[in-house]
Amino acid sequence: MERILVIGGARALGAAVARRAKKDGYDVVVGARDLAAAEALASEIGATAVRIDLQDESTIAAAADRLKDGVDHIVTTGSAPHDVRATELDRDKLVAAFTAKVVGPMLVAKHFAPVLRPTGSMVLFSGVVGWRPGPGSLVKGVTNGALEYAARHLAADLAPVRVNAVSPGVVDSGSWDRLGDKKAALLDKSAAGTLVGRHGETDDVVDTVMWLLRAGFVSGETIHIEGGARHKTA
Ligand SMILES: NC(=O)c1ccc[n+]([C@@H]2O[C@H](COP(=O)([O-])OP(=O)(O)OC[C@H]3O[C@@H](n4cnc5c(N)ncnc54)[C@H](OP(=O)(O)O)[C@@H]3O)[C@@H](O)[C@H]2O)c1
Repeated sequence: MERILVIGGARALGAAVARRAKKDGYDVVVGARDLAAAEALASEIGATAVRIDLQDESTIAAAADRLKDGVDHIVTTGSAPHDVRATELDRDKLVAAFTAKVVGPMLVAKHFAPVLRPTGSMVLFSGVVGWRPGPGSLVKGVTNGALEYAARHLAADLAPVRVNAVSPGVVDSGSWDRLGDKKAALLDKSAAGTLVGRHGETDDVVDTVMWLLRAGFVSGETIHIEGGARHKTA
């Protein structure tokens, strides 16, 4: 049975990947900075839990040591948004955003490289904002763009382990529930910005992640799951 570690696995898209992976027969490890949340999901689906905070390298090293008997796949969804314009940048939040998206996954590669089986893979999470600049999307856009390059370069560095990224458009993952009654407007606006006329669903992303785990001839790529949003000109 292949083992998969899902970092950011206690909620939203990470939890959906963990649930599907368990259903598909993987040995699932739910990684999250909130260990209680990871343990709650793990006990519900029959997985194990480990504490990983992408802002804290020691937790990544400790998790790699705990899983040193081998990991086949790592999926990491970490994100720490700082959605402001350039004049409002807060240096600590800027660094935290880069750490969750880019530095953290690179340190995951550092500590898990000796643990990852050669037929395995990593799947990192980018996002459409990397390709759609706009006011207030500076940090999200640049970190997502950097993440695409991280996937390419990590793929060369960790080979033959495959490293890829997925880049979702706006997905009703549970994360937007925090907007309350403004969520529907966001989803409608994002649907209008696609070629297919709808927002993304969790399964759109999970299906792609599960395909990438098995796509043995795909490495260093970013797979866009955004209904053609980058190609819509008007
Ligand atoms: N949903 C969308 O519309 C959309 C669109 C484009 C791209 N994306 C990308 O898809 C990924 C997943 O998004 P989502 O919709 O599932 O919601 P999300 O709220 O963006 O999920 C972020 C995940 O990262 C985890 N995380 C944040 N900081 C962390 C840290 N220091 N250490 C470990 N984990 C950390 C969070 O865990 P906690 O529970 O501990 O906060 C959460 O599980 C993100 O990278 C996001 O940017 C999503």
